[in-house]
Amino acid sequence: MNTVKTINEVRNQVKVWKKEGYSIALVPTMGSLHAGHASLISRAAKENEKVVVSIFVNPIQFGPSEDLDSYPRDLNKDEIVCEGAGADLIFAPKATEMYYKDIEASVSVKELAAGLCGAKRPNHFAGVCTVVSKLFNIIPADKAYFGQKDAQQLAIIKRMVRDLNFDIEIIGCPIIREKDGLAKSSRNVYLSPEERQAALILNKSLTKCREALSNGERSTNLLKEIIKAQIQTETLARIDYIEIVDALSLDAIDFANKPILVAIAIYIGKTRLIDNFIYEA
Ligand code: PAF
Repeated sequence: MNTVKTINEVRNQVKVWKKEGYSIALVPTMGSLHAGHASLISRAAKENEKVVVSIFVNPIQFGPSEDLDSYPRDLNKDEIVCEGAGADLIFAPKATEMYYKDIEASVSVKELAAGLCGAKRPNHFAGVCTVVSKLFNIIPADKAYFGQKDAQQLAIIKRMVRDLNFDIEIIGCPIIREKDGLAKSSRNVYLSPEERQAALILNKSLTKCREALSNGERSTNLLKEIIKAQIQTETLARIDYIEIVDALSLDAIDFANKPILVAIAIYIGKTRLIDNFIYEA
């Protein structure tokens, strides 16, 4: 496995593989790789002959008061995870390699980016879509792998691929959890031991909601109240949002009578964590 840092190098390697007829997968990441990323890479390796992992902390998807500077970065550790999971090539460019200073063109997103995480992160999904489309152009893969943990991101990328006719298949992969239920996230490293314990409230509150759905509850207001009441039992937790939306359109709905996405974002101390599940009613 090799690591390259320039667009030319990754393009040349992918061109050679294409000529040789290999199927190619792309796993876009921001590094700080954990078992969740490893599961994307190993699935990509199972389903394709060559796997490229991009590692790039994309500055344009961070807001001014977000954690761009402190976002965890450790390329050596990431290389070990990639190698172990079956990657063939890492593309780890610098920001100056990816963006001209006078960038004019970018990708914008409308309604799908307005709610959930997009409500308080106004340019986030435009930043994600811009970098992901650049990566799709730099690395013309057959399939790209994304985690269901970022459910809104996955829905938006699928729609972008449809709307802009990218010739790539988007594969969504299940959330990977710690043994105690906390969803794996690069931001979990920010949590103190006490906060780490408190963070279990995300999965606990979603489990309560899933139980209520299984018992026949369909009012999304009531379901949201169930989640809220559970979260409020944890003093270190502060709710950012609790949303139940149509799983495809991400529109708010009153009754859970079609596939729904139940998504929450919670601050534990200063760390914002997200979690979700899809329920096929
Ligand atoms: O999910 C992420 O890590 C990022 O948003 C992505 C898709 C790599 C784009 O920077």
